[in-house]
Amino acid sequence: MQNIHPTNIYLNRDDKEQYLKQKAKVIWITGLSGSGKSTLAHGLERRLAERGYLTQVLDGDNIRTGINNNLGFTEEDRTENIRRIAEINKLFLNCGIISINAFISPTNDIRQMAREIIGDVDFIEIFVDASFDTCAKRDPKGLYKKALAGQIKNFTGLDAPFDRPDNAEVTINTDELSIEEGIEKAYQFVKSEVRW
Ligand code: PPS
Repeated sequence: MQNIHPTNIYLNRDDKEQYLKQKAKVIWITGLSGSGKSTLAHGLERRLAERGYLTQVLDGDNIRTGINNNLGFTEEDRTENIRRIAEINKLFLNCGIISINAFISPTNDIRQMAREIIGDVDFIEIFVDASFDTCAKRDPKGLYKKALAGQIKNFTGLDAPFDRPDNAEVTINTDELSIEEGIEKAYQFVKSEVRW
C-alpha cells in the first residue's frame, strides 16, 4: 500500500533474549596460563547448555588462531587482543547469547577496558586463582619450562605482569577446589544472572 512503512521489522536484543528465554551476559574468566580458565569455561558452558542456554566460548584456540592471529604478547598486542574480543562480545550480547571468555587478560587496565566496552551491567568477571608455582608445576603445554629457560619472552607472571583482580564477581581457587567444585561455584553465581 502507498505510504505505508512497516516499522517493526528489526529484532533487538530484548526480542532475541525473549525468544531464547535467557538474559545475555558476558562471563569473563581471567587467570594465569594453566590456571584452569578453559576447563572452567567449557565445563560452565556444558552446565548451561544442559539447561537449554545458548552460549559461545571464546578462548585462544578460536581467537588467536583466527581474527587475532597477527597479535603477540607485548602489552600493546595484549591490549588490542582484548579490545577486539570485547567488541566481539558486544555482538554476541546483541544476539542474546551468553559468551564465556577464557583469556589471561593480565592487568587491571586491560580488564577495565573490557568491562567498559561491554558495559558493567553485563560483565561478570571470574578470577581463576592458582599460584604461579602451581601453574608451573601443572605446565600442561610445556610453556613454563620454556619460559623459565628463557625461551619465551613476555611470559605472564614471569617477565610480564599479572595483576590479581580487585573486583571479580567470583573467585575460584583451583589450588583448593576440584574441577567440578569450581564449575559448580561459577554456575551457582551465573544462573541467577542469565535466568529469563
Ligand atoms: S592475553 O594476555 O589475554 O592477551 O593472552 P591470551 O589471549 O589469553 O593468550 C594466552 C595463551 O597464549 C599462550 N602463550 C602465552 N601466554 C602468556 N604469555 C606468553 N608470553 C605466551 N605465549 C604464548 C598460552 O598458551 C596461553 O594460553 P592459556 O590457555 O592461558 O594457557
